[in-house]
Parts: sequence; structure tokens; C-alpha cells
Amino acid sequence: MKVLVVGSGGREHALCWKIRQSPSCTRLYCAPGNPGVATVADRVDIAADDIQGLVRFAVAEKIDLTVIGPEAPLCAGIVDEFEKQKRLCFGPNKLAAEIEGSKAFARELCRRHRIPGPDFWTFEDHLLARSFLDNREDGPIVVKASGLAAGKGVAVCKNSEEAKVAAAECLEKGRFGKSGATVVFEEFLEGTELSLITLTDGHTIVPLEPARDHKAVRDGDQGPNTGGMGVVTPVPVMPRMAQQVESQIVFPTVHAMNREGRRYRGFLYSGLMLTTQGPRVLEYNCRLGDPETQPLLLRLRSDLLPLLLATAEGKLETQNAPEWDPRVAVCVIACSAGYPGDCKTGVPIFGLDRVATGDDLQVFHSGTAQRGGDLVTAGGRVLAVTALGADVAAARKRAYDALRSVEFAGMHYRNDIGLRA
Ligand code: AMP
Ligand code: GLY
Repeated sequence: MKVLVVGSGGREHALCWKIRQSPSCTRLYCAPGNPGVATVADRVDIAADDIQGLVRFAVAEKIDLTVIGPEAPLCAGIVDEFEKQKRLCFGPNKLAAEIEGSKAFARELCRRHRIPGPDFWTFEDHLLARSFLDNREDGPIVVKASGLAAGKGVAVCKNSEEAKVAAAECLEKGRFGKSGATVVFEEFLEGTELSLITLTDGHTIVPLEPARDHKAVRDGDQGPNTGGMGVVTPVPVMPRMAQQVESQIVFPTVHAMNREGRRYRGFLYSGLMLTTQGPRVLEYNCRLGDPETQPLLLRLRSDLLPLLLATAEGKLETQNAPEWDPRVAVCVIACSAGYPGDCKTGVPIFGLDRVATGDDLQVFHSGTAQRGGDLVTAGGRVLAVTALGADVAAARKRAYDALRSVEFAGMHYRNDIGLRA
């Protein structure tokens, strides 16, 4: 089977690494990929948002399955364009991807179908948003740009004053462009966060293992939100809570999408807050998480490719449940100076040759580039070390020991990934 993976981050490197191991994969391409991807797949110089270019490539090369990593092409309707050319493409179509593309839509979907989430209020008008904040009882509140913002469009605010600043960034200053033209204010929820990704073809629902992301840039969950600084999986979840997540959130969401004529095929990522009142939806993503994918795929023992193919064909019921390595995986991201703000790129990366990779440790590239013979930084999140261990402490030790061999000017990472697990 000829496979094309679309995207250029750590998630796509991990996807390519895993798909490459499948006995049914005869040829693997990645567009556009990165230098890490190049060790396991053939890179194709087409951008992830060049939908027509990707369709033309898939038709010309007779690609059997195209797997979309990032949200932007999914929300722009890449799956629909592949379908028009009768080429199989893994991921939700445009209507279904709106579950991530519009936080306002996702919130209203939950309200319509009684899926538990925070109270929320949406605004497009800056003065109305301000007056809402003036007239509420002061206290913490969460402000979100409704559209896609690479994980940076959410501000957890201590009070209405902070919320006014965050709302103004979206509605007045246009910081997130069209993505911030609608803002969603949300009730601030307290509890423990959990990411649960499920594979679904709209009928059969296969949960992956629960994971915990660390969104804030600094240790102790301090500083602004990022796309994710590190992940631990699995995380212990009380059986009653796990059952509620399934019966109150995951199943009802897939069914709600069906009922609204938005049949969902692909990975559905539910970002959850486990509160004393039960689980609540913080957000949905229409794809695998980055970096959740890296530790999940290091633990996945089953062949991923038949699961992806069956999902895209709407035949997920034919597949056995995936098997997992029982060990714990910890993934730690190394970032450029300045991330999640503007960062300097083109900085040489040293020491990767000192890291012994294997079945229980991998380095997946996110924002790297080749310049002459050198590997240099090319983005905010640069690379991630993912390691397995008998317990969290052992996995943490292996991951951090390896990360300490790597260096680039301005490199920073969180030291507490997995510590709370
Ligand atoms: P999101 O991208 O919507 O998941 O938000 C990013 C992060 O902001 C989450 O991982 C939470 O840490 C925090 N957050 C989002 N929504 C809420 C909420 N309603 N209450 C408390 N924290 C939240
Ligand atoms: N790591 C969170 C995300 O992929 O959205």
C-alpha cells in the first residue's frame, strides 16, 4: 500500500515512524515532512495547506491512503477534495472538522445535546463583551478565540480586567485574525485535565489510552499556553470517571455529530477536565494531539495502518482493539527561546548523535531544518524526546537523561512532565 502523510511536525514524524513499520506499507511519502521524517519516509515538497497540490500528487502517484496530521487542512476541507477525486483520505471532512475549527460551534453542539461542559457566552462585538464582563460577579474566567490558533488562543484569566485585555486582543487588535473575530467566554473549571483520543468511523468507537498534556510553558503550569510542552501516558483514571467520560462525552459526541449530518471519521480528541461533578469538555480537536501522538505511538503495539484504513473506509468494526505496551511513556518537548511568542530560528542543534534511540526511546523532530550539513531550529517547538519506563519515574529519567545530551542556544523545556502523575 502506498501511503502519504500530510504535515511537518512531531506528530507526523511519529506517524511516519509507526506506519513505516507496517508490513502492508510498500511506499511512504510525507508532505512536506521535516529532517526527522526524512529518515523514515520520502519527503515531498508540497505544503500541508496546498490542498490541490496534494490531491494532484495523490492521483498521479496512485496513493492508496492519505493521512492528514494537522487541523488546518482538515478544517479547510481536504478530505472532501480527495473524495471528489475518489482517493481515500483519513480524517474528518470539512463539516465534521468544524468541531475543532469553531469553538463556538463545539460549545453549542454540547449545549444542544446535553454533553457536559462549562457555561459559556459568545461575542463578536467588543462593547457587548466588555459590558458582559462589567456586569458579572468578578472572578476567574476563560477567554478563547473561537477559531484555530495553534493552542495559543486561550487565556485563563484571574478576573474581569484580565479577561477584558484578552478579549480586546481578539476583537479589537485582531491578534488571531479571523480566528479571533468571535470570542467564547467560559466558566473557569477546576479539576484534573485529561486528553482522550478516540478512533471512530462514526459507528465504531475505539478509545486510545488516556494521556496528560502540559499546556503552560513553564513548570508548575505557569506562563502562557502553548501547543503542548510534554505528555505522560497512560494516566490513572478512576473506573467510574472513565465510564462517565465514555457514556456522557465520547459516545454522545459521535452520535450528536451523526444526528447533525456531520458523520465523523478520524481521530476525535476530547480535552477534558475531570471535576468533582464529573468530566467536562474543555475542547475538541479533529485530529491526533501533538505531542500526545509521540508517546501514544511509542506504546502502540498493534499495526496502525489497518486501523487507519478501516476507519477511512467506514469499516472500523472489522478491527481488533489495539494492543498497548503496559509501560509508561513520557514525552518532553525542547523549545526555542521566546516560544510561545516569536522565536529565533536557524540555531544549530547539537548532540542528537549522542542519544541512543530504539524501541524504548525516540527523538521526534518538530521544528527542525537542514542547512548545509547542519541541523538547525525552524520553529517554536523543536524536537521531543519520548521514552518508555516501568513507571513514571523510570520513563522520566530516561527521557530527561537523553534530553540533556541535546543542546541549542536558547533551548528550554519543562522539568516537571509527568511529575503529578
Ligand atoms: P483548550 O485549548 O481549549 O483546551 O484550552 C487550553 C488550556 O486552557 C486547557 O488545557 C486548560 O488548561 C485551560 N482551560 C481551557 N478551558 C478551560 C476552562 N473552561 N476552565 C479552566 N481551564 C480551562
Ligand atoms: N497537545 C494539544 C494539541 O495537540 O492540541
